[in-house]
Amino acid sequence: MHTKINRCIELIDRLDESHTLTGEEIQYLLEHVEETSRDYLTLKADATRRRIYGDRVFLRGLVEVSNFCIRHCQYCGINGLNPNIRRYRLSQEEILASCRGGYEMGFRTFVLQGGEDPAFTDEVLTELIRTLRRDFPDAAVTLSLGERSRESYRRLREAGADRYLLRHETRNRDLYQKIHPNSDFDERTQCLRDLKELGYQVGAGFMVGIPGQTRADLAQDLLFVKELDAEMVGIGPFMPHHDTIFKAEPAGSLADTLLLLSLTRLLLPQALIPATTALASVADDGRELGLKAGCNVIMPNLSPPGVRASYSLYDGKVSFGSEAAEGKTLLEQKIKDAGYQTDLSRGDHATWKIK
Ligand code: 5AD
Repeated sequence: MHTKINRCIELIDRLDESHTLTGEEIQYLLEHVEETSRDYLTLKADATRRRIYGDRVFLRGLVEVSNFCIRHCQYCGINGLNPNIRRYRLSQEEILASCRGGYEMGFRTFVLQGGEDPAFTDEVLTELIRTLRRDFPDAAVTLSLGERSRESYRRLREAGADRYLLRHETRNRDLYQKIHPNSDFDERTQCLRDLKELGYQVGAGFMVGIPGQTRADLAQDLLFVKELDAEMVGIGPFMPHHDTIFKAEPAGSLADTLLLLSLTRLLLPQALIPATTALASVADDGRELGLKAGCNVIMPNLSPPGVRASYSLYDGKVSFGSEAAEGKTLLEQKIKDAGYQTDLSRGDHATWKIK
């Protein structure tokens, strides 16, 4: 019993010093950590984020631009095969108006997120990005619009996009192919490598507790974000959606998600790590627990309130109150109560030089 705790503490110390472990060692931690070593890991992760970013929590305004999607991801409520959701696509004007509202509230990062919607051509997006950079020159533009060609990513980067979020979802090739029937594991990997080479700040990440996922898989997910040297890492629990084949599956565990977030903080001390919406949806205090486990980003919802319910990736997704941009005062108070400070600046990665 004691030797297991000691072994976990020893691994955490080594991770804290060297920022690396083997897959087997990470897996050992995922399988054997208990109260004492879990608390120890949480404290180390919080100390690391404080050393790099102090007590700042960066806020990003999230605009969910479209829920049309050509992909068939089996866990996702807005997958293109779901006939039961109301599809919407924001116009250029609606997107700009959402960002303007956010800008006036102080947000200096806009995240445009959506399904893979062919209506968002390079022409449409480059115009939108140029307008955002012109109207809000001190704000960063982050895109999260799925897989595109390298040439497309290059054009969007040239138009002024700074960051791109594309979760790798899982590094288990077989599991990836099973839950993404019309996607390709190698193409996803290539997209992430292209984004890195093109000079984006890149966000990878994964869900915790997808049906069929093992702890060995999760260890590989961590090694991948380390190898990619991702600037941002999005990790949230899997949550069932009632229109998917996973509707009766249990949600991913809060404790496991927090553990993976803390390990990520120690593997990549400088990473920008959001306390995700899924984390806030799985538990009332999910966001606060995420901050204490090493997260340093929160992305309140800036979408027009009328479309929020339609961006239904999973059941119980929160999008109002302190999850929403208009609930910013409440959110800031929660951040303060948790022992941190809101930071509304662009909040670039610690190594980033504005180009
Ligand atoms: N549960 C949790 N996260 C989900 N996502 C999609 N569907 C779900 C779900 N059912 C996540 C994916 C995607 C991100 C936008 O949302 O990881 O990359």
